[in-house]
Amino acid sequence: MDWTNLIYLAAATLFIVGLKGLTHPRTAVRGNLIGSLAMLLAVVVAMVYFFQKSGYDKIGIAVVLAGLALGSAIGVVLAVKIEMTAMPQLVALFNGFGGLASVLVASAAAVLPPKAVLAAADPQTGRLALDFSLALAASGIIGAVTFSGSLIAFGKLQELAIFKRSLRFSGQQAANTLLAVVTLALGAGMIAGGSLWLFLPMVLLALVLGVLLVTSIGGADMPVVIALLNSYSGLAAAATGFVIGNTVLIVAGSLVGASGVVLTRIMCKAMNRSLFNVLFGVMGPGGGDTGPVDDIYEGKIKSAGAEEVAMLYDNIQRAVIVPGYGMAVAQAQHAVRELTNVLEERGIEVEFAIHPVAGRMPGHMNVLLAEAEIPYEKLKAMDEINPTFPQTDVVLVIGANDVVNPVARTDPNSPIAGMPILDVDKARTVVVIKRSLSPGFAGIANPLFAADNTYMFFGDGKKAVLDLISALKES
Ligand code: TAP
Repeated sequence: MDWTNLIYLAAATLFIVGLKGLTHPRTAVRGNLIGSLAMLLAVVVAMVYFFQKSGYDKIGIAVVLAGLALGSAIGVVLAVKIEMTAMPQLVALFNGFGGLASVLVASAAAVLPPKAVLAAADPQTGRLALDFSLALAASGIIGAVTFSGSLIAFGKLQELAIFKRSLRFSGQQAANTLLAVVTLALGAGMIAGGSLWLFLPMVLLALVLGVLLVTSIGGADMPVVIALLNSYSGLAAAATGFVIGNTVLIVAGSLVGASGVVLTRIMCKAMNRSLFNVLFGVMGPGGGDTGPVDDIYEGKIKSAGAEEVAMLYDNIQRAVIVPGYGMAVAQAQHAVRELTNVLEERGIEVEFAIHPVAGRMPGHMNVLLAEAEIPYEKLKAMDEINPTFPQTDVVLVIGANDVVNPVARTDPNSPIAGMPILDVDKARTVVVIKRSLSPGFAGIANPLFAADNTYMFFGDGKKAVLDLISALKES
């Protein structure tokens, strides 16, 4: 076991180095590669150890290799085929499958506990060791909540019709609490009695709990939920590591769990939500209501073409660009880079306003803009850029909607109530590029589009930016 643990230690160190790399866009790709390398190392060593321990049992080896080949093939196809804009759904599925894997391993250990655990059982009562039962209960509960919750999160991110509105019922918070208490009581019963027959009902209730916790979350609050499910998948893996006595699984799971908690805190701050409410599935008011759109928009929308928008950039000093999910859909980041160059050649100071939940995954906008080689120093976080909007001549919003919606400040019943937004409405002039007046992810109308200082520049993000560049060059 010594050589395995030594290599596991090397893999764990590489995981930490990889995570550190992920903290900055410039080092993120390298960090990702280092993390992948560490995982490869851990998987190979775990397999070799298992083969040795099983006495090179041919059937066991064949089953493991077949599973590995199938899983790798599915992983490669998904990674190659997936659109950048569908990454969050994929991440939700990965979290869910991580949770399912933990439940399956724990189920196998509940049916057939490892020999070492059986040998250490109380000879009189047959009761299994406390640490094993505890790890089994944690792995089953957290894994099951992660699995079912992540499937619901997938449906919401995929914007499946059934999830367009948050599915809530009166007394849901009480139902969630009761279900959590009963599930934990079954787990406690299993640990105290040392009996494993409570495992199945415990897991089934945890599956229902996962569904209820996530269905109640309003659309715009999904970033917090994804971060939390990510953390749960790590905790479930760590618990499974204790069940099967695998050091590297404990370390890797703990790292995912801990970094997921950090990300959840960042997302909670970005959305102005409390961690308690996230944990108990009580988030902002329900989403999906488009509101009295006619009252908000009718007769108040001013649309402008590329030439008119180009004229707004005459003799100005400062411009800010606000990217959102639509920029990712349009893949407009390279055109945006070119626009930045053209504006800077005119002596205009250009900065980017980055909202922490713009797009569909944490750091989505940073990744896209880094890909287009826009200098990192130009990307300004919300707290830093918000005070500068009143001194900004033109704000260009490209495919962003919820993150610039002023109702977050004004309507306490809105699904995004209390969420800090980019205060673009305070700039002298705002131009919004999008294809229509359709709502964003939260499903609500946006009074910014009807504001006196806003011009709507309708069209696909990339085409609109390219047209604007041509108009600027001609003017
Ligand atoms: P959204 O509010 O989702 O709005 C995106 C806008 O882009 C839409 O209104 C759409 O309008 C426009 N659009 C789509 N395709 C376009 C294209 N090809 N060209 C131009 N415009 C296009 O985006 P946001 O402001 O970035 O806010 C993000 C939302 O997603 C928040 O509610 C957030 O809570 C949620 N969310 C975020 C995350 C993370 S972690 N970032 C995860 C899950 C959910 P048209 O259809 O009219 O063009």
